[in-house]
Amino acid sequence: MPSVLITGCDAGIGREFAKQYLEAGWEVLATYRSLDNVITDSKKVQNFKLDVTVASDFSDLKQKLGDKPIDLLLSNAGIGLDVAKLGALDFDYVKQMYDVNTVGPLRLVDTFADNVAASDMRRIATITSRMGSINLNLSGGHYGYRASKAGLNAMMRSLAIDLFDRGITVVSIHPGWVDTAGGGAGNAAVPVAESVASMRALISKRGNHETGQLFAYDGMPLPW
Ligand SMILES: NC(=O)c1ccc[n+]([C@@H]2O[C@H](COP(=O)([O-])OP(=O)(O)OC[C@H]3O[C@@H](n4cnc5c(N)ncnc54)[C@H](OP(=O)(O)O)[C@@H]3O)[C@@H](O)[C@H]2O)c1
Repeated sequence: MPSVLITGCDAGIGREFAKQYLEAGWEVLATYRSLDNVITDSKKVQNFKLDVTVASDFSDLKQKLGDKPIDLLLSNAGIGLDVAKLGALDFDYVKQMYDVNTVGPLRLVDTFADNVAASDMRRIATITSRMGSINLNLSGGHYGYRASKAGLNAMMRSLAIDLFDRGITVVSIHPGWVDTAGGGAGNAAVPVAESVASMRALISKRGNHETGQLFAYDGMPLPW
């Protein structure tokens, strides 16, 4: 069975990915900001600590996993949405969003690209947001979150080019407006189980000729 390493399984979309891949029989390497939140109702899950802002967490996990092939590297952990207005911006939070949403996923790929290259499927998927699309920004605001996801998209495009010769397919996915804590829970349009099921189908169908593209969870290509 294929293996998947997922960041941010403490809650929300990451946790749902872990549960659905477990149900599908995959080998799931679930990572958490805090091990207080590990999935306990499955004997098959392998749980690891990984705060994506902590460099030593990456080296510790790499040491534990060694050269193990990872079929799908799934970067999900993220924070936002900033709602502060000009004149009242929280610049520490702007920087924190960049650390978590942009630098963290790059460090993830930097650490585990060889493990992905050693696998059969050779896929990297990152959960971004259409809020990072400059073309689709018609409502302004959300400076830090938008910039962190636009930066993430730029990095994933470069990674797609740089990893193409190793047969690795990179895909960036907007999950929809999802009913998690991060999506504002009750108001969101897409149930988390539906978003994740659609994204799993999307990830499985992408070929290497489609590497470096940005999609919505339902498979619709999105502009940068
Ligand atoms: N929900 C939406 O509508 C929506 C829309 C567009 C994009 N997204 C993106 O989808 C992804 C998942 O969001 P979500 O809706 O599931 O949000 P969520 O419910 O807030 O979950 C975010 C996850 O990321 C983890 N996390 C936060 N900081 C971390 C760090 N430094 N290291 C490792 N893990 C960390 C959180 O852990 P803790 O619980 O311990 O904080 C949590 O497990 C994010 O990248 C988000 O930007 C979501």
